[in-house]
Amino acid sequence: MKLAILSRAPRAYSTQRLRTAALERGHDVKVLNTLRFGIDLSNDEPDLQFRGRQLSSYDAVLPRIGASITYFGTAVVRQFEQMDVYTPNTANGISNSRDKLRATQILSRHNIGMPATFFVRNRADVKQAIEQVGGAPVVIKLLEGTQGIGVILAPEVKVAEAIIETLQSTSQNVLIQAFVKESKGRDIRALVVGDRVVAAMRRTAQGDEFRSNVHRGGSVEAVELDPEYEATAVRAAQIMGLRVAGVDMLEGNDGPLVMEVNSSPGLQGIETATRLDVAGAIIDFIGDQVDFPEIDVRQRLAVSTGYGVAELAVHSGSEMVGKALRDSGLSDRDITVLTLHRGTSVTPSPRPSKVLEAEDRLLCFGKLEEMRSMIPERPKRRRRVKKLAQKAITAAENP
Ligand SMILES: Nc1ncnc2c1ncn2[C@@H]1O[C@H](COP(=O)(O)OP(=O)(O)O)[C@@H](O)[C@H]1O
Ligand SMILES: [Mg+2]
Repeated sequence: MKLAILSRAPRAYSTQRLRTAALERGHDVKVLNTLRFGIDLSNDEPDLQFRGRQLSSYDAVLPRIGASITYFGTAVVRQFEQMDVYTPNTANGISNSRDKLRATQILSRHNIGMPATFFVRNRADVKQAIEQVGGAPVVIKLLEGTQGIGVILAPEVKVAEAIIETLQSTSQNVLIQAFVKESKGRDIRALVVGDRVVAAMRRTAQGDEFRSNVHRGGSVEAVELDPEYEATAVRAAQIMGLRVAGVDMLEGNDGPLVMEVNSSPGLQGIETATRLDVAGAIIDFIGDQVDFPEIDVRQRLAVSTGYGVAELAVHSGSEMVGKALRDSGLSDRDITVLTLHRGTSVTPSPRPSKVLEAEDRLLCFGKLEEMRSMIPERPKRRRRVKKLAQKAITAAENP
């Protein structure tokens, strides 16, 4: 395949390792400076320029987008997606992972363990938010920090309030998060490629520091992960839309607590700690997937008027409970079931013989009107539009 690695650091360890791994496997690989692309929307088809000339055709792109160029970098990745070039990490996935609040919001409905988190804006709401996550000591995080910068442990509520107020006064948004004491300055970094963890390490903070980032002096060692940790890491990456990701987890008393999902994980620490060829695993995965460029399913399927994607919930009182999919009445209405979600498990393209249970969720494609009747009605919020008072009409007519 012909692969482009998007990076501004051609000499960095990770870039070098990925490039070498691709060459060793006989691929044609180029490291291209992300900032030298031009997004060309002047013709009938979306196109890209590189250093002022039309880009030759590529089969796959591996984005390594630094936090300081997220906006432009994700625009370039999005353009590759429009051109049907395979990328393991979508522009959406990368943007979502960059913002700690956005990532936490997206993961929060999928039964993934996370430290209790709160986000408020008004000073008057800060104190209660701290109490909601369990009181002091409490962790305060800048939404877009990396390498441990912008992560603060406040020992008391008063101190926490003062820190939050200071940060907000300089227009910085902060998360309020429960301090997971039992993790004792340690965390797990799992390197996810596709649907498996290819390498994992434990990071331990230096001295009395609670942040275990390598940039904060943390030390690393290889670990064998429990299946629960592996499954959580893979699911978190999948939900974020990232096929190559570094998932950071704290070891909570009740299992893994995901803190963040990194879309350009560094390879040096993890390859050194585990002695595993992580770069090779990434390149092999891209080689396998290159024929399946990421498709924004919802957008593509919604192109035919009146058709779209919807999630139908099978409620306990529903007639569908206990029936096989073929007898559920869905196919009579021309509704195709794409996936069946039961608890945390997912069955893709479920068979007609699959028996439905209460609380199943079906991701379906079909006529929106047909599906509407199967979606429980939302409480109506729309208010009637009131008539204007005569006084207001006169004022409007004679300004
Ligand atoms: N809620 C928490 N409880 C305990 N330790 C935490 C918590 N949040 C973060 N940490 C520690 O701080 C480090 C940095 O936090 P993280 O959210 O990953 O920010 P960054 O993006 O800067 O790496 C983590 O690796 C972990 O060691
Ligand atoms: Mg981190």
